[in-house]
Amino acid sequence: MSELICIGCGPGDPDLLTVKAVNAIKNADIIACPISKEGKPSMALSVVSSILDKSKNQEIINLVFPMTKDKDVLETTWERNSKILADKVLSGKKVVYLTVGDPYLYSTWIYLHKKIETKYPQIKITVIPGIVSMFTFAAKVGISLGEGAEKISIVPSCYDLSKVKELAKNSDTMVFLKDGRYFDQVIELLKEAGFSDDSIFAIGQDLDTEHEIVRKLTLGQVTKDTMTTKYFSIMVVKRV
Ligand SMILES: C[S@@+](CC[C@H](N)C(=O)[O-])C[C@H]1O[C@@H](n2cnc3c(N)ncnc32)[C@H](O)[C@@H]1O
Repeated sequence: MSELICIGCGPGDPDLLTVKAVNAIKNADIIACPISKEGKPSMALSVVSSILDKSKNQEIINLVFPMTKDKDVLETTWERNSKILADKVLSGKKVVYLTVGDPYLYSTWIYLHKKIETKYPQIKITVIPGIVSMFTFAAKVGISLGEGAEKISIVPSCYDLSKVKELAKNSDTMVFLKDGRYFDQVIELLKEAGFSDDSIFAIGQDLDTEHEIVRKLTLGQVTKDTMTTKYFSIMVVKRV
C-alpha cells in the first residue's frame, strides 16, 4: 500500500529527532515541508538538513501555506498541497512530510491529514511524533508545566485574546504559542485573573537556533522590553 509519513521534527535541535524520524528521513525519496511564502526557508527542513542523505539525491518539495485566516485561500491551499503529496505518493515514491514540533499541535499537517484520508483512502498514513516546542522550552527554563492536580491551558495567539481572562481564572499554568508579537496583550488579563506578581514568567524566541532568547522572571518583573518580537515564540505563566 502507498504510504505517506508525517514526521514531527521537534523545535529545532537535530539531536531531538527520534531514531524513527531519522530512519524515515534517510529512507525517503521525497522530502516535503511547509513554508509560509515562496522563497522563504522551511524551519522544519532546517532541523533535518544535517541528516539528509546526499548520495540519494532526495527531492525537496516546499509546500506554501500562506499565513491567512481567509477560508477560501486556506481551503485552496489544503486541496493543492494534499494533491501534490498524494500524486507523489501514488507515483510510487517514498514521501515524508516534515513539521515543526509535533504534527498534531497547531500544524499544517492536521489539514493535510483530513484531506488525504478522505480523498485518497488508498494511501496509508503514518505519523511519527515529535518533541513539542513547549516541552523543550520547559526543559530549558527548568519549570514544570503541570504537577499534581494543576490545570494547564494552551492558547494560540489567533485565539480571541479577550477570552484569556476567563480561561486563566481556571488554570494554574498558561502556555501561549504562535505569534509572540501579541503576547503583551494578555499580561494585564492574567493579573486580573488572579496570577500574582510572584507567578513564574518565562518567555522564549527562536529556540534551538543561534538567535535563541530565553528569559525567566516573575510576572511582576515583566516590562515591554521583556516581550518577544517574532512568530516563533513561547510564553509560560504559572501560579506559585
Ligand atoms: C504552527 S505552531 C506549531 C507547533 C508545533 N507543532 C509544536 O509541537 O510545538 C508554531 C508555534 O510553535 C512554537 N514554536 C515551535 N518551534 C519553536 C521554536 N524553535 N522556538 C520558539 N517557538 C517555537 C511557537 O509558538 C510557534 O509560533
